[in-house]
Amino acid sequence: MNQLKDIEQQKRHVGHLFDRIAHSYDGLNHLLSMGIDRCWRRQAVQSMKPVDKVLDIAVGTGDLALLLLRRGKANQVIGIDLSTEMMRIGAQKAKRRGVETRLHFQEANAQNMPFPDEHFDAVTCAYGVRNFADLDAGLREMYRVLKQGGELTILEFGYPQNKLIRWIYDRYFTTFLPLIGRLFSRDRTAYTYLNQSVKHFCYGDDFVAHLQKVGFSGTCFRRQTFGISYLYKARKL
Ligand SMILES: C[S@@+](CC[C@H](N)C(=O)[O-])C[C@H]1O[C@@H](n2cnc3c(N)ncnc32)[C@H](O)[C@@H]1O
Repeated sequence: MNQLKDIEQQKRHVGHLFDRIAHSYDGLNHLLSMGIDRCWRRQAVQSMKPVDKVLDIAVGTGDLALLLLRRGKANQVIGIDLSTEMMRIGAQKAKRRGVETRLHFQEANAQNMPFPDEHFDAVTCAYGVRNFADLDAGLREMYRVLKQGGELTILEFGYPQNKLIRWIYDRYFTTFLPLIGRLFSRDRTAYTYLNQSVKHFCYGDDFVAHLQKVGFSGTCFRRQTFGISYLYKARKL
């Protein structure tokens, strides 16, 4: 119960939390997932058809957005996030790769987006939705800004189904990950929040039920690496 209250509290200041760990975010991401996070993003991008304008919600340091451009899945990407520090690093990466004119970063809240209805051909969000203070409000906004016929692609963590793998993963996730996270990011609480926010978030059919509730059709999901990560797809008909 206290853990849940802590998570709700942290979600209210999630932009600041990511500002604090932005400097070590990319390195730790690849280290803690042993580089597998790159495959998860690649699978998400492979699942998409090429379009003109994509909105990448919770763009962070831009890994998914950059991959969308590199793989020719978007002509232009608008990335929004609450953390200016994460986006500052993302903008540097875009400049280094010469795509700064095609990837725009904008500070905005996913739960109340500053875009007109039906504005984007596709919407993506990698490892962002579990941080929303109000999940359904964020999903409703995704539905609103997506054009009719447009495709939604979401990546989010889950928990493995297999009991043994789940047990091993849980040990890793609740002890090793916060410890390494604390050491490298020099932040005492951020990686404990990150692990707890995954533990208490819905996945699989339960998450799909939220997508359907706000109006999405053609919903499906794919487990990645035993269900450590989930790739969700949906459409606005
Ligand atoms: C785990 S990072 C993921 C970043 C990136 N998409 C990636 O795949 O590495 C989560 C990001 O979500 C952002 N975020 C959380 N809640 C948000 C909200 N309500 N609106 C916009 N961004 C949000 C955080 O600031 C953070 O940068």
